[in-house]
Amino acid sequence: CGIVGYIGNKDAKEILLHGLDTLEYRGYDSAGIYVMDDSQTGHLFKEKGRIAALRDKVDQSVAAFSGIGHTRWATHGAPSVDNAHPHQSNSGRFSIVHNGVIENFAEVRDAYLQDVELHSDTDTEIIVQLIAWFAESEELDTMDAFKKAIVALKGSYALALVDNENPDVIYAAKNKSPLLLGTGDGFNVICSDAMAMIRETNQFIELMDGEVATLSHEGIQIETLAGDVIDRAPYTAHLDANDLGKGTYPYYMAKEIDEQPAVMRKIIQNYQNEQGELEMDPEILDSILASDRIYIVACGTSYNAGWVGKQLLEKTTNIPTEVHLSSEFGYNMPLLTEKPFFIFLSQSGETADSRQVLVQVNEMGYPSLTLTNVPGSTLSREAQFTLLLYAGPEIAVASTKAYTAQIAVMSILAELTAKAKGLPVEMDVAHELAIVASAIESVIDDKEIFEQLSLTHLSTSRNAFYIGRGIDYYLVMEASLKLKEVSYVQTEGFAAGELKHGTIALIEDNTPVISIITDKKTAGHTRGNAHEVISRGAHSMIISMDGLNQPEDAYVLPKVHELLTPLVSVIPTQLIAYYTSLHRGNDVDKPRNLAKSVTVE
Ligand code: G6P
Repeated sequence: CGIVGYIGNKDAKEILLHGLDTLEYRGYDSAGIYVMDDSQTGHLFKEKGRIAALRDKVDQSVAAFSGIGHTRWATHGAPSVDNAHPHQSNSGRFSIVHNGVIENFAEVRDAYLQDVELHSDTDTEIIVQLIAWFAESEELDTMDAFKKAIVALKGSYALALVDNENPDVIYAAKNKSPLLLGTGDGFNVICSDAMAMIRETNQFIELMDGEVATLSHEGIQIETLAGDVIDRAPYTAHLDANDLGKGTYPYYMAKEIDEQPAVMRKIIQNYQNEQGELEMDPEILDSILASDRIYIVACGTSYNAGWVGKQLLEKTTNIPTEVHLSSEFGYNMPLLTEKPFFIFLSQSGETADSRQVLVQVNEMGYPSLTLTNVPGSTLSREAQFTLLLYAGPEIAVASTKAYTAQIAVMSILAELTAKAKGLPVEMDVAHELAIVASAIESVIDDKEIFEQLSLTHLSTSRNAFYIGRGIDYYLVMEASLKLKEVSYVQTEGFAAGELKHGTIALIEDNTPVISIITDKKTAGHTRGNAHEVISRGAHSMIISMDGLNQPEDAYVLPKVHELLTPLVSVIPTQLIAYYTSLHRGNDVDKPRNLAKSVTVE
């Protein structure tokens, strides 16, 4: 979910709606704003679905200079107008927006709100009714009622609250979920992500867990729940509002796929010193060298990038590396070695599942490194070290350029660690990544081939399979996630050799099976597996790296270093996913039920 708030002297409706447009990647099940007009009357607008639908519903004649807004990714309660935020207390006095999950909402409801009529299925309504209950039944002032409610809540939340009886302030609080306060001349803002308010200001103050804030035209005051005043200077968010556009592309996903050669080059530049040598904070390398095992922890596409990272790190540095899903690792932790080193992969740097692991890692006192695309994000701030991806804002929900950027940065990390360890390094990473950039370009130039393939093989298919071995197996895990998440074609990625041990039972006439073959050790075997499915009626396609003696109808990828092949073999699979989604008439950038940044566990 995404939150915005504004109090100042400009048209609050437009600022809130624009902010929500920018935060739509966090969820788009429903949206709403609550604004206060000059005569201090509040107006609530809510709609199911996208921000565009909300915009149509907002009465443009209302002149408002403050308000709060929300775009939702449903947790408790189906997507509907009733369940959309802002939620209000029964008296209509308090309105709130919330990102997160209140774990004890049923207990709170039963303890305090037995006699209060509820109007939604959400945990959020409980918060606002509870605040009203404390303010009205116990006659507490708003801040005290707000704090008392917060103390009663267990779970994650970023909150923005408006009280009609104190219309000159917006109240904010957070626990676990991110919330930023932006400062300006005569106005102040609230947002889940700096991007949402970058048109208004680039000066942001981070609100910490256990703090509450009030925003007025004049300023921002932060205090702890115990009432201690906090003085925290703003930081400058280095974000370019121009990077947030789609340009001439119909979808962000198309733009972001095309940006990958430039991202590879930008990564090389950013990690090179003035002498043109790759370089990074030596403390990171020392810390890795002092460890006996690397644990990569991530979700979704970042998790898939982690497997390629494992291969790179183990082959280059000889340090055993494990890859784990954050949502599993945190609650079912494997036995750790004596000196673990943790790498968190996260495009957004905000994923709650990954953060809960980092919190535990910090408590245990182990070193940690976050690779993220978002400087200043939660995982970046809370880890000991950060390496940036330099991929530029990734807006499409399905991740493309962040995947390749993560692999590229891990290849640099692997090479520099190996060098620091005194190992002979066979790969000149900067040079090899430059070759990769050109190879990606040439695959992108062939995009019509993949559009055609999507039309003939996938646009009407019910299911599909990707197969590969070794590094290609790691790649097909990502290829299948990409296709399924944007096209809704049920797709699985399998270790090619494992197909015959079960999955081959699913092969029917014309089932699409795409084989990825870039590794010469296993090329023959995977080719054999492709034949096995062809014999059973499958519609086979082979995507193979140059020099591997492939059948004539294979699509041939330009040759790159054997440890970097996923950077190139992933491109056709991204294009296949994009075109299949497009031709099935889906909203490519906003697949159903998903959100780009999942800030609930
Ligand atoms: C969500 C997105 C995925 C993403 C995953 C991890 O589920 O839809 O595309 O890979 O979160 O996100 P992160 O920002 O931590 O890489």
